[in-house]
Amino acid sequence: MRILLDKFSKSFGTTSVIEDMNLEVGSGEMLALLGPSGCGKSTTLFAICGIHRPTAGRILFGDRDVTNLPSQERNVGVVFQSYALYPHMTVEENIGFPLTVRRVAASDIKKQVAGIAALVHIDNLLDRKPSQLSGGQQQRVALARALIRRPDVLLLDEPLANLDAKLRLEMRSEIRRLQKETGITAILVTHDQVEAMSMCDRIAIMKSGEIVQVATPSQMYQDPRTAFVAGFLGNPPISFLKGKAAHGAFVSTDGKLQMTLPALSGIADGTALTLGIRPEHFGTAGNVPVEGKVTFAETQGRENLYDVVLPDGSVIRSIQPVRDDVTLGDQVRWGIDSKSAFVFAEDGTRL
Ligand SMILES: Nc1ncnc2c1ncn2[C@@H]1O[C@H](COP(=O)(O)OP(=O)(O)OP(=O)(O)O)[C@@H](O)[C@H]1O
Ligand SMILES: [Mg+2]
Repeated sequence: MRILLDKFSKSFGTTSVIEDMNLEVGSGEMLALLGPSGCGKSTTLFAICGIHRPTAGRILFGDRDVTNLPSQERNVGVVFQSYALYPHMTVEENIGFPLTVRRVAASDIKKQVAGIAALVHIDNLLDRKPSQLSGGQQQRVALARALIRRPDVLLLDEPLANLDAKLRLEMRSEIRRLQKETGITAILVTHDQVEAMSMCDRIAIMKSGEIVQVATPSQMYQDPRTAFVAGFLGNPPISFLKGKAAHGAFVSTDGKLQMTLPALSGIADGTALTLGIRPEHFGTAGNVPVEGKVTFAETQGRENLYDVVLPDGSVIRSIQPVRDDVTLGDQVRWGIDSKSAFVFAEDGTRL
């Protein structure tokens, strides 16, 4: 079921949180709403599921305008960070609850619960109470409860935030598997870029109530539209260097780094610029030499991380295959791969 937000706006009193947002989630697609805390992700999700009424604009499921429909008439399944299972009910009763309130016949509920429990791999836990389950198992129950009414749309708001690192990893692929197997259209709200990249078909990056870019994870990483997007994706993060344009090149503040970039051919000399370099594009193989001092060196097992401080005080991070010939305090002369560098105007727009 396609989801469409058409000029969606939401204010609380005089505070405008979302203004004129347009977004389309394709049928069967899983989309991440990714952005920093307070940017309006949950507000958007709450409007889609019917908890919040939009201040302006429309929300469509397929061709059906659901803007003014109450939540229970939208056929959405929702899982929140606090998955709030009913503690006095068994797993079976928790999962079947949405059907119980709809007065579905008990034998029918039993059959449907069994089916959905098998799908999320908790069919052996049906008699337990929530307190007798691990965090990951509780999360599966919450998912089963959200899916049992065969919703048209699955909405997930930070569903993994309460799980430890290992479980989070396991549930990431589990949720993705379920979404694919059921073919359900899903929106995942998260501020974790790794979660968004690994679980979703496309990512919508939000900043201060606006969608900055919508793209597949690899497009977003390789072709960010702004410095904010480039800085949001990637771990370790991209490094930024300040400088100016001169004769079609980026020139660092101290003049020591000069890099000709096709994107700068029409840019006036003296224009303030920011250069973005991902850690994998700075090392021994880079074509534009940079000298600096190693102020941070750490091995990650398979790779090493280094921070190199340039004479003007700026720092570039490097990620390289493990080596032990470089240590803290060393002076190095490495290079930036100019073909992979991004350049941004002062307002953050990519040039
Ligand atoms: N009911 C409300 N009344 C007034 N302001 C609200 C209300 N709900 C949210 N806001 C404001 O709207 C903005 C966006 O909040 P929202 O919960 O959507 O952020 P978020 O992106 O989900 O953040 P987080 O990652 O921290 O969950 C915040 O500034 C918040 O204070
Ligand atoms: Mg939120």
